Amino acid sequence: MHDFAVTEKYSLFLDFPITLDIERAIAGGPALDFEPEHGARIGVMPRFGSDQDVRWFDVATGSVVHTANAWDDGDDVVLQASRSKTSDIAGAGLNAENLEDTQGQLYEWRINLATGVVTERTLSDVRCDFTRVNDAHACHPTRYVYAAAFNTDRPFSFDGVMKFDNETQTTTTFHYGANRFGGEAVFAPKVGAKTEDDGYLVCFVQDEAAQQSECLILDAQDLAAGPVATVMVPYRVPYGFHATWVGDL
Ligand SMILES: [Fe+2]
Repeated sequence: MHDFAVTEKYSLFLDFPITLDIERAIAGGPALDFEPEHGARIGVMPRFGSDQDVRWFDVATGSVVHTANAWDDGDDVVLQASRSKTSDIAGAGLNAENLEDTQGQLYEWRINLATGVVTERTLSDVRCDFTRVNDAHACHPTRYVYAAAFNTDRPFSFDGVMKFDNETQTTTTFHYGANRFGGEAVFAPKVGAKTEDDGYLVCFVQDEAAQQSECLILDAQDLAAGPVATVMVPYRVPYGFHATWVGDL
């Protein structure tokens, strides 16, 4: 498990079938593997509860690297994350032939704690990971999810950012352009922000042709317009680098 999620009342643990087996690795196999025969389940534990308090709910088999957000909604606990049918970090892993299965899509699990019924659905067709929300709204319902959009030809490469709107069920994207790749985009609210998406997405991009790293700042309310500012970075920023925005404490 690489990440978990928290609501006001619960902590959610994702027991998905990515296994770590050192003996398998010594024998020449993958250290990390995807073993769907183990199934998948989500554990719901009251905040500051113990292992005795965890309730497990079976879900469709797949895998999640990063969660976006989770919140309470009456008897329901809602979790949103990028989910892939198999895994992009384990087993046969990444190759250009299986990207449809290994790259995640934004997904929602709605767990009814009164009836035990879990409802699952894919939210967006765009393949993505590094999901983020406006952190001021974390653990509470969020309308918008931001994520790094996968390049659908080259394994483990992100060529843009996306924004999903839970209210309109629509996705908008901004692509960095040819030979330009990035990673996680962090939401930074404007000073005196009035709405959830009143702020900026900050992300790092590498222009592979120019061998130039850049920090892009996009208006979160108008991704398609492209960056409102670009900071040229004098050193290479490696893919996978990510950070968080900390405002005035
Ligand atoms: Fe991570």
